[in-house]
Amino acid sequence: CERQDSRTSRERLLVVANRLPVSAVRRGVDSWHLEISVGGLVSALLGVKEFETRWIGWAGVNVPDEIGQRALIKALAEKRCIPVFLDEEIVHQYYNGYCNNILWPLFHYLGLPQEDRLATTRSFQSQFDAYKKANQMFAEVVKEHYVEGDVVWCHDYHLMFLPKCLKERNRKMKVGWFLHTPFPSSEIHRTLPSRSELLRSVLAADLVGFHTYDYARHFVSACTRILGLEGTPEGVEDQGRLTRVAAFPIGIDSDRFIRALELPQVQDHMKELKERFAGRKVMLGVDRLDMIKGIPQKILAFEKFLEENPNWRDKVVLLQIAVPTRTDVPEYQKLTSQVHEIVGRINGRFGTLTAVPIHHLDRSLDFHALCALYAVTDVALVTSLRDGMNLVSYEFVACQASKKGVLILSEFAGAAQSLGAGAILVNPWNVTEVASSIGYALNMPADEREKRHHHNFVHVTTHTSQEWAATFVSELNDTIVEAQLRTRQ
Ligand code: G6P
Repeated sequence: CERQDSRTSRERLLVVANRLPVSAVRRGVDSWHLEISVGGLVSALLGVKEFETRWIGWAGVNVPDEIGQRALIKALAEKRCIPVFLDEEIVHQYYNGYCNNILWPLFHYLGLPQEDRLATTRSFQSQFDAYKKANQMFAEVVKEHYVEGDVVWCHDYHLMFLPKCLKERNRKMKVGWFLHTPFPSSEIHRTLPSRSELLRSVLAADLVGFHTYDYARHFVSACTRILGLEGTPEGVEDQGRLTRVAAFPIGIDSDRFIRALELPQVQDHMKELKERFAGRKVMLGVDRLDMIKGIPQKILAFEKFLEENPNWRDKVVLLQIAVPTRTDVPEYQKLTSQVHEIVGRINGRFGTLTAVPIHHLDRSLDFHALCALYAVTDVALVTSLRDGMNLVSYEFVACQASKKGVLILSEFAGAAQSLGAGAILVNPWNVTEVASSIGYALNMPADEREKRHHHNFVHVTTHTSQEWAATFVSELNDTIVEAQLRTRQ
């Protein structure tokens, strides 16, 4: 099967990410149910069709027994996915600990954990060791499935140690690494105890990509300031070896959303929603329930808007879809109760016997229901405190060809750099500003909405995930050819 693939015209791509595009749920000793995973990375990469792609990653579940593992390998193979089995202790230290309690908040400017700092410092080393061990485990699976000539594309903050592990196993492997979160200012990265080791490991890749030029610039500054290496317009140079660093803004498979709107089940959903919210404007938030998404700040801004605009109280509804995520990490547990408390208070304050201003859902919606919701929305609120890109804003725009609704977008989301001209940009920390933007969006005249939507729609439908992946892979191939030429000279 491997040999057959290498004869096809499509290039083989090994996508290595912590999370596979499907998560596994055990149904019996040897039976598994697979569900689509959530998150921007999966949403973008599912649209990439022009390569012969294999996914390598964690299926989101602990499978201690061999029968279960064998059955899962088989079930995943049908989806061209290859699992990396991580036991509970590794998941606790690597995924809950180092990735999501340390790197994730740090890269989103929330700093290293503030509470129980001493305990964190003590467990830091063991979490970093588990992180390295997990990355080695990914590298072993890649090595097992690698065929000469494959492009190996490593993704995200979970796998910063992977490029080094891969090059140690095979110097000739073509290795790219892409970060889906912001890369913070070097002043922030400096605070990380393992700052140098992580940078050096990433630099082992041939090509390093980010969503925006700012993130790429921050990475290069971190390498120059912390490692003392030379930053060039091309990337980072270390003793004559260049690691190319560049920005590759991600996109979505916009056609998939546009086509879905024509489906009868989506049309039915839309009809139901329109009837349900007749006479009211619909505002929408779709986020993973994560501190970086600014959900409490968004809801407080909505409260302020209702407070200051009594005439709108029974004419607008906020639908907030908050998909649970990383539920074993204490910060996320706290956030869930905080959001519930705020929503309850506001609904108690402004609700009537027949209607409440906020519908808050702690779960994900299936793709068709989500498309319908995007399509009937008047104003989408994306108020992330920081966000690598934020593809919800792209998905909303793709579904708005007929309604031409307004996007309120955080200036701290990577998407602000591409959709800024069409969206209303806000500072999500400024509740007063967000509240007045809500008023502006709800009252916006049709011609202004149309103009803004047109700008964003053109961007979203031309800067797709397919184009993003093709550009990254072709740049990676070019980088390797150039490096070979340089060494021959
Ligand atoms: C973000 C990250 C992804 C991650 C996703 C969902 O989009 O960049 O790497 O997969 O969140 O988070 P989770 O922890 O559930 O994989």
